[in-house]
Amino acid sequence: MLIRRISPDLEKAPGLVAERGSVLGLPMHLLASTTSTNDEAKHAAKDGAPSGSTWVAEQQTAGRGRQGRAWVSPRGENLLFSVLVRVTCPPSRLPPIALVAGLAVRDALASAAPEAEPRIKWPNDVHIDGKKVAGVLVEAVTAGTRVQAVVIGVGINVHTRDFPEDLADRATSLALASRVPPDRAAVLADVLARLDGDLHVVVARGLGLLRVRLEAADALRGRRVRSDTGDEGIASGIDDDGRLLVRRDDGVLARWSAGEVHLV
Ligand code: BTN
Repeated sequence: MLIRRISPDLEKAPGLVAERGSVLGLPMHLLASTTSTNDEAKHAAKDGAPSGSTWVAEQQTAGRGRQGRAWVSPRGENLLFSVLVRVTCPPSRLPPIALVAGLAVRDALASAAPEAEPRIKWPNDVHIDGKKVAGVLVEAVTAGTRVQAVVIGVGINVHTRDFPEDLADRATSLALASRVPPDRAAVLADVLARLDGDLHVVVARGLGLLRVRLEAADALRGRRVRSDTGDEGIASGIDDDGRLLVRRDDGVLARWSAGEVHLV
């Protein structure tokens, strides 16, 4: 069943974004249901939508995550949104952009629930107490080999308290982690304002000084990790291109650029 209206809490979001003076977030399209907010943004990019346009949905019927996974979220409970940003850059900038989006989400969640201590799990998940609370999916709109625009899709578990059995030990929400009831519109406006501040820095100059903030919030640093292909080592930070640095047992500093990372 599709819902036909937007909850009043989300309707405040465009006003909050305007108050913060963010370029990202406006115009904001609030949707009762869509296949995927990333699809909305990608189609609109081709139709000339302005940079900063944002799509927020109460429900997605084909929400997707990284590596071809589905992103499933009960309708009306969480934050599902995508921002279109018109930037011209080489494809190598995409991982740093995704990391900075994860950092904006992490910082907004830390501000909403300081006691929760959210952390970034490379490449761009946000975890609280070792469980995933948010994920980022960055997709590029390209012309030839150049990126013409990026779509930054974000899913944040805000109000969900009961996760399906197969997710219960791996997923959490702001409501479960916080003493104060979370406010979806405030979290959304805060993520967008933080992203607004850092995005153009990373597009122009790469991660640079943002690495210090990323490393302070890094859930993996100093931990033993294993890749999907079975490589192992100690996570040792993130390089300027957004790759995970892993000190292997033979002493070599490896740079992992894709795939999932598991704590050993
Ligand atoms: C991941 O952790 O694998 C990334 C999840 C990204 C989910 C969000 S929800 C809003 C936007 N629309 C989508 O279809 N995906 C992203």
